[in-house]
Amino acid sequence: MPQNWNPDSWKRFEARHLPQYDDPSALAAAEATLGNYPPLVFAGEARELKAQLAEVAEGRAFLLQGGDCAESFAEFHPNNIRDTFRVILQMAVVLTFAGKRPVVKLGRMAGQFAKPRSSDTETQGAVTLPSYFGDNVNAIEFTPEARRNDPERMIRAYSQAAATLNLLRAFAHGGYANLRQVHQWTLDFMGRSPWADKFRNLADRIGEALDFMEACGVNPDTVPQLKSTAFYTSHEALLLPYEQALARRDSLTGDWYDTSAHFLWVGDRTRFPGSAHVEFLRGVGNPLGVKCGPSLEPDVLCTLLDTLNPAREPGRITLIGRFGYDKVEAGLPRLVRAVQREGHPVLWSCDPMHGNVVKAESGYKTRPFDRILAEVRGFFAVHRAEGTHAGGIHVEMTGQDVTECTGGAVAITDAALGDRYHTHCDPRLNAAQALELAFLLAEMLNLEAADRQRDAA
Ligand code: PEP
Ligand code: CO
Repeated sequence: MPQNWNPDSWKRFEARHLPQYDDPSALAAAEATLGNYPPLVFAGEARELKAQLAEVAEGRAFLLQGGDCAESFAEFHPNNIRDTFRVILQMAVVLTFAGKRPVVKLGRMAGQFAKPRSSDTETQGAVTLPSYFGDNVNAIEFTPEARRNDPERMIRAYSQAAATLNLLRAFAHGGYANLRQVHQWTLDFMGRSPWADKFRNLADRIGEALDFMEACGVNPDTVPQLKSTAFYTSHEALLLPYEQALARRDSLTGDWYDTSAHFLWVGDRTRFPGSAHVEFLRGVGNPLGVKCGPSLEPDVLCTLLDTLNPAREPGRITLIGRFGYDKVEAGLPRLVRAVQREGHPVLWSCDPMHGNVVKAESGYKTRPFDRILAEVRGFFAVHRAEGTHAGGIHVEMTGQDVTECTGGAVAITDAALGDRYHTHCDPRLNAAQALELAFLLAEMLNLEAADRQRDAA
């Protein structure tokens, strides 16, 4: 059990990026309501995920984490949940085949509702209003009423998270995740992709492997694992009143867990020394992520690891680098070396999204696909050079055909960004771009797998 911790001990620390509510009694009422609601996840599931992440950290599995930058009340629709889930599954099949290792699937879903913003206010013309902080804080419309912080929104976020999780559980275990079916979707996608030739060989080999298994009598009827999958949820633990209200003591172990999701991470803007967010997270037993940007110093990271994982429990910590395509090769090695020197067991994952935001001429915030790919390549190169394991990828993506990131096979141009730019915050990869990224990543995992085989020989 962590020392001197309780679910509200974070209140004694410096909290950045937390909303102010003008009616404290309304906040207390919302917290009390949430405090009586059922947990969204079970502590045992969080422990199971932690055990799987420990396998990833050891190089025996790979982590795929993806979903919206910000989930929204407006985009809440079963088809959106289904489509994102489906693309994550498709990516996972490609990566499993290439890397010859299991892929741990973790959605940025069912709770990703709060956003840190670079500015507290937004100005349009002569009008300045509070920024939009995510749908469980205020609303995106540019009016004073919409931008008022409303604690009641946390209740709605909880309900949406519960319904989303319910559907995800049904998809994961009710037959939708059938491996043969997932591969068929990928083949359908290939039929439309201009890069199909590039990926055909890999897709054919996956198909052949499935045929071979089938001929050996290995099919979803004989091996139920082929029609169900483990799928976990995650979000940034930013809105501490919400997270605290969902902190529960596990009846089996007596430990505290944040039952709003299986995995929580602390953002690049809230992982500073003395942070309230770090204080909250150190006390819960969930597996945790830490975003690592270019401003993070190695000694600060090591102190943070001592705080969040004093027992050095494997699988507890995932370090999610988000440097930018031109900074990863200079910035990441010093962190990797410091962590190695201290002997902290961590999983290294790559977020190639948050360091690669540019403003297009059209005025839209975008992320060029080439830069996303370049950061992933840099990440793999660093780990190859350092002898450590490139363990995972963290992407903002959707199953919808949006136009938010430029490039990819169906090259989305600056001028086309306005066509279907729907994100409530940062630009996401669309379904085709996400799957293309998986195929390109597969090439890197293939090389890694070959390296491993050579080392083992
Ligand atoms: C995010 O993941 O949406 C985010 C805000 O990332 P970061 O903390 O790395 O900036
Ligand atoms: Co984002």
